[in-house]
Amino acid sequence: MIYLDSAATTFRKPPAVRAAMLRAMQTLSSPGRGGYPSAQAADRLLFHCRSLASELFGVTSPERVVFTASATHGLNIAIKSLVPPGGRAIISGWEHNAVTRPLHALGAETVVAASPLFDAGACVEAFAAAIRDGADAVICTAASNVFGFCPPIGEIASLCRAAGVPLIVDAAQSAGVLPLDMDALGAAFVAMPGHKGLYGPQGTGLLLCGARAKPLLEGGTGSESLRQEMPEFLPDRLEPGTHNMPGIAGLAAGLRFVRDTTAARIARHERALIRRAREGLQTLNGLTVYAARDEALQTGVLSFTADGWESEELASALAARGVAVRAGYHCAPLAHRSVGTLDAGTVRVSVSAFERAADIDGFLRALREILAK
Ligand code: ALA
Repeated sequence: MIYLDSAATTFRKPPAVRAAMLRAMQTLSSPGRGGYPSAQAADRLLFHCRSLASELFGVTSPERVVFTASATHGLNIAIKSLVPPGGRAIISGWEHNAVTRPLHALGAETVVAASPLFDAGACVEAFAAAIRDGADAVICTAASNVFGFCPPIGEIASLCRAAGVPLIVDAAQSAGVLPLDMDALGAAFVAMPGHKGLYGPQGTGLLLCGARAKPLLEGGTGSESLRQEMPEFLPDRLEPGTHNMPGIAGLAAGLRFVRDTTAARIARHERALIRRAREGLQTLNGLTVYAARDEALQTGVLSFTADGWESEELASALAARGVAVRAGYHCAPLAHRSVGTLDAGTVRVSVSAFERAADIDGFLRALREILAK
């Protein structure tokens, strides 16, 4: 299989991830619940994983790194901590349903800071204009899961700091690829999955906390057990129930891989592959390719459409030739509305550190054959 769907999940993982998960199942019991060796080893692993993430993402204390089941889980905690029912939130035009659906459920007034695709200046201006009227929170993705566009998060963060509006960053598509310094941004929350650019297993995620959070779930934490309120302190406040130890062990191995490879090298590799895909696609007739002129504004994600083809039909034809891509709306109808692709969606190609130029060439060969028929 030629796997070009790493924006959904990085399917190819460093071998150390699986080894760490197996080891965890053999050696780790429940953390924070016992003084015996397997429970203490589980405690140490949690702290190790939090420390890796806090170093990678500029969080001064590891306790502010909270384990979640997904970026969606973290975004729900963040949004429901800051936006009251009927509150007001400002979002970019590139947000995923993981942002828009919680806001809808809250009955929030959701203001879209709309701007053209790959236009960083217009994106900042749109946020600046929307922030003037105030908001309970600004929520912005650091990279669109559909088009790979990277809004200028640093500039948006300084607008938020100046206006005193808390910022939530959705780092689902950027963590492990784009630099992120949580404390320099002054963000209230940053949410990310463990299973994409951090190369951990599915069912893992991280929420970096810079503001007081409301628990989404209540339950046992192994601390303050005689009180019925959730503990005030992190990470216990947001981590009831037994931790996903095999998942967190795998995530720690993924984080070590990113630390050792470096996000900068991974980003260079992904951008080179996307350039190869873009250049190949641009030689074919009847395609619309959504690519940034300035490569720094796009991550390892590229969308395109083909005249006369439903995007899902084209993806099925590619799948029949052994090429895995994702088509349709990518759970982000707002991003498609912003670009004008809401009628049929797009076909999305996305890469990780493990894809090679030969994968892109194989995809282009298959696409040429399909379009020639
Ligand atoms: N949000 C993930 C994607 O873009 C699942 O495919």
